[in-house]
Amino acid sequence: MQNHEAIKILVTNQKGGVGKSTIAANLAAYLAMQQGIEVSLIDFDRQASSSRWTKKAPDVGIRVHCAEINYENSGIALLSSRAAVRKYSAGVQVSISDLTWHPTLSDEFMLDFDIVIVPSSSAKFEMASTEIFILEYAQKRMARLAANKQFILVAPSKVVPGYASLGSFTNLEFLMNCYITPPIHQTPDLDAYVYEDFLCVCSDQKVAENFSNFGKFLAKKIEERRTIKKTLSLSGTSLNREIVKKVSVLDDYRVRARELGIYGGYAAKPATDAPQETPPESTPGVVKGGRFIPAFLRRSE
Ligand SMILES: Nc1ncnc2c1ncn2[C@@H]1O[C@H](COP(=O)(O)OP(=O)(O)OP(=O)(O)O)[C@@H](O)[C@H]1O
Ligand SMILES: [Mg+2]
Repeated sequence: MQNHEAIKILVTNQKGGVGKSTIAANLAAYLAMQQGIEVSLIDFDRQASSSRWTKKAPDVGIRVHCAEINYENSGIALLSSRAAVRKYSAGVQVSISDLTWHPTLSDEFMLDFDIVIVPSSSAKFEMASTEIFILEYAQKRMARLAANKQFILVAPSKVVPGYASLGSFTNLEFLMNCYITPPIHQTPDLDAYVYEDFLCVCSDQKVAENFSNFGKFLAKKIEERRTIKKTLSLSGTSLNREIVKKVSVLDDYRVRARELGIYGGYAAKPATDAPQETPPESTPGVVKGGRFIPAFLRRSE
């Protein structure tokens, strides 16, 4: 599995305190512990909440990295954020980036991810701001979103047990590949677990089950995304790879055609005879300044 390109997950929202770091750290732990997946956690936030949690809790094999984005301007921000994700996604099956979205960041960066998780509480103002955040992105990037089939997952976070997501985030229902995840409940004594252990294995059975449900949903989406990526063979980077393959086939063809003396429609001469390549008599063209110009490229005189 190590040869596979990592599935890149971004946990983000422009709003603070919505549960991004809690989700990022605990999702990384769930995937590593319960699904046996090789995971890296990329913590872009200065407070370093998710990386600190992951480092202080028992080691479950998550590769933890802290990264900094240079917000000097949007070009530099894009370069530095991309470089970090590329670097820390190498050699793992899944990378999870924890980042508070910043207006300087380009949507281009968001498009790099396979799955974008947007945590949001169920408070009306926060739901509205989450919907606007996603709709603005989708409005600007609809064509690319449709082509990439990136998943956007709204994660109801810190919600009361019994919360039903039905009827919330209705403005996003029309969006392709946008889903609402199972909710993550408000855990009254969360501080007892922070740094101590991860939610999916915590002693409170209900809390463990609740987070594991969320984790299972994500594991399924990761698999789906993997399958979709294989079928996206003619887009984006895969298209580039295809082109590279085709060009090298063409290169071989050219070399062989030169050897056989059929390349370019006229007989190739041994290198020692160059530069005076001349067309065979039957080929309509002229030799000018030592270069053969085929008839169809010649300006009529
Ligand atoms: N499911 C939960 N139940 C109870 N409290 C929670 C839950 N998730 C997060 N919290 C609490 O809410 C606060 C913010 O959570 P967290 O740090 O995960 O959010 P964040 O979006 O990463 O915040 P920031 O924008 O500051 O990085 C923390 O005090 C955290 O303990
Ligand atoms: Mg955070």
